[in-house]
Amino acid sequence: MLWLLAGCQGNDFQSALHPASEEARAIAWLWWLMLAVYGGVFLITLALTGMAISRKQKPTESGRPQAPGGPMRFVLIAGIIVPSIILIVMLIVSLRTSSALRAPETAFTIEVTGHRWWWDIRYPDEGFATANEIRIPVGVAVRLDLGSADVIHSFWVPNLQGKMDMFPEHVNRFWLRADRVGSFRGVCAEFCGDQHALMGLDVVVMEPADYQEWVASQREPPPPPTSATGLRGREVFFEVGCAACHAVAGTDAVAVVGPDLTHLAVRRTLGAATIQNNREMLERWILEPQVLKPGNLMPRTLIERDDLEALLDYLQTLH
Ligand code: CUA
Repeated sequence: MLWLLAGCQGNDFQSALHPASEEARAIAWLWWLMLAVYGGVFLITLALTGMAISRKQKPTESGRPQAPGGPMRFVLIAGIIVPSIILIVMLIVSLRTSSALRAPETAFTIEVTGHRWWWDIRYPDEGFATANEIRIPVGVAVRLDLGSADVIHSFWVPNLQGKMDMFPEHVNRFWLRADRVGSFRGVCAEFCGDQHALMGLDVVVMEPADYQEWVASQREPPPPPTSATGLRGREVFFEVGCAACHAVAGTDAVAVVGPDLTHLAVRRTLGAATIQNNREMLERWILEPQVLKPGNLMPRTLIERDDLEALLDYLQTLH
């Protein structure tokens, strides 16, 4: 039990029990209430069962065992009336919590499209795209237009909101807000194939000024590489086929099959929150994506060592 409970302490990173928004607080409150009420019922039931097992049967006058149906009143009250009252009260509390989660006025829209197994993120008003990372300013409600490119996924950032399904050919409107700065992990909450468990994303909540700075940098294409190897790496990017699937703003790479790589170097993770974003992991991701995340659409890249180093130099300039 203690071992299991140790899992609850967690940190703030991906936890419905560490709410950072009005919505998540309402959901967390309901969760604690349900734990207390149903946990209490469970313990009382266990205690009664224990008493029933250990109780000695009283002999009856006739010498035969007691006929069933004697303690009818107890069964009626504890077995039917009390559970019905508890269930009805909890139903009302749940419905009230759901109806309290009403969409607020939103400041702007972010389009989020689920893919197997990553997230395409677009800021249509600002005209830029990113992947597997949503950034929002603190204290502002943002509208989310949720869709899917293939199967049904579900958008869930436990610290900030409940879940919302993402369907192909249909946009589900949702919203997101946070009342403190921080980094919160989201997950896909609908089984969508092999790597469903590795379909993560980051939601970074920033001070408004920092957010504006980030938006300004995202709107600009990355600076062109200045080193000879960086320039060579940009050629390699096209030669080995990266550009067949990925886009980098300011270049001829405009494909939308895989994640947009325009500002790849500033993201925390690679492969939809699968691995840390650093040179070593980036190299492994290029050489053996099917080992790190089997079944994903990225093929392994056949590349000479010199070209690989140049490609890594180039990718690391994508700020
Ligand atoms: Cu996408 Cu599970």
